[in-house]
Amino acid sequence: TSTLKEAFDGKFLLGTALHVDHTNGLRAASSSLVEKQYNSIVAENCMKPEEIHPSEGVYNFTEADQFVEYGEKHNMFIVGHTLVWHSQVPDWFFINAEGKECSREELIERMKDHIYTVVGRYKGRVDAWDVVNEAIDDKEGLRKSKWYNIIGEDFIDLAFQFAHEADPNAELYYNDYSMILPHRRAEAVRLVKRLLDKGIRVDGIGMQAHYGVDYVKIPEFEKSITDFADLGVKVMLTELDISVLPFPTEEISAEISQKYAKSPEFDPYPENLPDSMQVKLAQNYVDLFKVLIKHQDKISRVTFWGVNDAHTWRNNWPIEGRTDHPLLFDRNNQPKEAYHAVLELA
Ligand code: XIL
Repeated sequence: TSTLKEAFDGKFLLGTALHVDHTNGLRAASSSLVEKQYNSIVAENCMKPEEIHPSEGVYNFTEADQFVEYGEKHNMFIVGHTLVWHSQVPDWFFINAEGKECSREELIERMKDHIYTVVGRYKGRVDAWDVVNEAIDDKEGLRKSKWYNIIGEDFIDLAFQFAHEADPNAELYYNDYSMILPHRRAEAVRLVKRLLDKGIRVDGIGMQAHYGVDYVKIPEFEKSITDFADLGVKVMLTELDISVLPFPTEEISAEISQKYAKSPEFDPYPENLPDSMQVKLAQNYVDLFKVLIKHQDKISRVTFWGVNDAHTWRNNWPIEGRTDHPLLFDRNNQPKEAYHAVLELA
């Protein structure tokens, strides 16, 4: 009879990404599930630069305001996502009045205005921010994003500094994916250590945790948690989901079309998830949660990227238009076997 947030109370926070339809009444059933099950929320899209700051000097706070009010109303730990990212950021950030690429100084000024305005608006209300998202390159070093190319690697330092100035009490996180891959883990350690050594405030490292069944090597998962915690910062799973669908190679993804997306090979469970896969998914969640519980002194929060299978972004990534089943609740907000299995561990 207990719920996720009750079961894990005293261990870590349990969170979910919230879509604007959860706060505007369109997903009422799933919102009431959120209120029962979770004590933390993160904004799925409404605080990203393309939504909140679509053109220069134009801010659209309507949905973000609703998101924050919702979290306050339900006494939740509220996470803002995300201030500086290469994706879902409008082009205008990088182009100056002459139509040319911004100088370093111009881009720093824009970043500062953005962070001061957004973080400043929710000062004392949003508990924590994913300050920089996905700055690590898939091959080596840092991602050669516009932020990196125009400002240099200290775009990261500046982002954290501005966020801290805008709300000195907010927790500030570095967030990235595939944090269990050795080279990406090492790069994250290097990055955060460099900031901490400079005296810059960093409170935690977010491991996005967009996984697939039987993908995670548990010793690698565990090593990332302990290596990150050794830096003296909090560790959290920030965007947890476990896809049950085949993960295509980049070549296949690139050429994939509806014809593939709807094929039994790439979209094998267009109706319900068969029992055998329910069991497999549950086992995958159990394997992760056993490690999380073992390291509960290091883990501050576990947040799922979405509430139920109907609206998960995994239905559209890495291939569009499939039927995935990655979360603990099915398309009718009913708890799946994985839900019960996770709850039993607590
Ligand atoms: C995703 C959202 O879930 C989608 O609705 C949107 O279309 C694209 O972005 N890593 C992140 C998240 O940090 O912000 C992304 O969210 C998923 C990958």
